[in-house]
Amino acid sequence: MIYNRKKIDSKTFQGDLFFLYGDDVAERTLPLGKKEIELVKSRRAEKRDFLLVFDRLPYRLYLLSFDSEKAAPECQEKLRCSAMQLLKRIEEDRVATLAVTGEGVLPEEVLAFVEGLTLADYSFDRYRTKDCYHLDTLDIDERYLTSDDLEASQQLWNRIFWCREWVNLPVADLNAASFADELASIAADLQDVSCTVMDKRQIEALRMGGLLAVNRGSVDEPRFVVLEYDGVTKLQRDKVAKNSATHTNPICLVGKGIMYDTGGLNIKPDDYMQEMKSDMAGAATMASLLFAAADNHLPVHLVALLPLTDNRPGFNAYAADDILTMYDGTTVEVVNTDAEGRLILADAIAYAAKNYNPSLIIDAATLTGAAVRAISTFGIAAMAQNADNPLTMLKLVGQQVYERLVEFPMWKEYDKFIESDIADLRNSATSPQAGTITAGKFLAHFAKEVPYVHLDIAGVAYFTKAQAPYGTGASGYGLRLLYNFLKNRDL
Ligand code: BES
Ligand code: ZN
Ligand code: ZN
Repeated sequence: MIYNRKKIDSKTFQGDLFFLYGDDVAERTLPLGKKEIELVKSRRAEKRDFLLVFDRLPYRLYLLSFDSEKAAPECQEKLRCSAMQLLKRIEEDRVATLAVTGEGVLPEEVLAFVEGLTLADYSFDRYRTKDCYHLDTLDIDERYLTSDDLEASQQLWNRIFWCREWVNLPVADLNAASFADELASIAADLQDVSCTVMDKRQIEALRMGGLLAVNRGSVDEPRFVVLEYDGVTKLQRDKVAKNSATHTNPICLVGKGIMYDTGGLNIKPDDYMQEMKSDMAGAATMASLLFAAADNHLPVHLVALLPLTDNRPGFNAYAADDILTMYDGTTVEVVNTDAEGRLILADAIAYAAKNYNPSLIIDAATLTGAAVRAISTFGIAAMAQNADNPLTMLKLVGQQVYERLVEFPMWKEYDKFIESDIADLRNSATSPQAGTITAGKFLAHFAKEVPYVHLDIAGVAYFTKAQAPYGTGASGYGLRLLYNFLKNRDL
């Protein structure tokens, strides 16, 4: 989609026009005739939220009335979701270029609407041989958006687009090696971003017992990708160094990169395997986040650590009863090969803690079915260790951008569920209860004293049924949350 800022006079405008009507404003500011104003007024007396379409042959006027008295985040989310409905309507009308303006609306409301249109306009159609509808051009009233804001948003939306595309790609067309190559080639084009791709031999040299074990049943080699972006200028660093020494240390972003999760020898039954191409959504999210931060020159120092492999039952596949020695020396008894995510993440988290002296480690992972059972598809299950402030901040930002998270407890009582008789830990808990929490507790062991936030995105990374404003399939959920968290973070 092409975005332009334009001067738009709604009364004389020639073309398909979308008009956002928030607060009651003087009737003469509306692009409507007398009868039309009466209609809009009577509809608004009944209910604030509705869409009306007026024929202005050969064009159309789409008027969306909305309730601007709700709290700001709800109001903006409603606009994002209405954008998805509007898109269905303009698809029927085969609109190619749409102009956007309004009265009685705030700039952030217009931006939320445009964001909703953008998110809803994405679909995974590269394998479809029939033409698919997409909006070509969006002309936005320049009164509502600065060119800087539009450009920064576009950069973020582009990264969300690519995140979704990677997650939607089947493993046959995106495996650990090709994904790593793709990340390296993007990094090469970005200023201030470096990329190191470690292959199987290097991963062996690092003794990443978790990543290597999960990879054993696959013909495809694993990769361990490290991306680094340092957007903190020397000036900022010197200023901060006076106050606190640790703050310019990097934030480490760890992402689960299971390119496909068959379950391994504990193979997933029936249709549980479907959609497991999305089990690398954590890695796609963290890579896209780092790229978006670099695109927009955010003053943050980030390191993304992405362990990549598929989980298969072939060859010498790792098995229950195996005992693994992880990167940091912790031993783990394998109880279930389908609890593979925590094994590859444990190595990456321990690697981050040991080598980067991070101010914070955040991971994103499609980790447990239990997270979906607990809160369905409406948010992220989060846990924090020594990181109350970042978690509070994430919760707040999550409310604002409507990618919400809910905190699960780190209580010590859960520790005994992941204790093993024959190793330090077991990879699947002794109790079937609290599966999301025991997985998070397992990971927290490897972060040691480093402030650590765990985000279980199993419920939100991929929508089987369409969910507004994202639609169907990979969502990129969490990217707007994490990006705005980084943007608002004080150095
Ligand atoms: N990738 C799955 C978790 C998952 C399930 C993500 C559904 C998205 C939707 C993960 O590797 C897994 O299989 N977890 C097991 C853990 C169990 C064996 C302890 C689970 O949740 O059942
Ligand atoms: Zn699994
Ligand atoms: Zn998995």
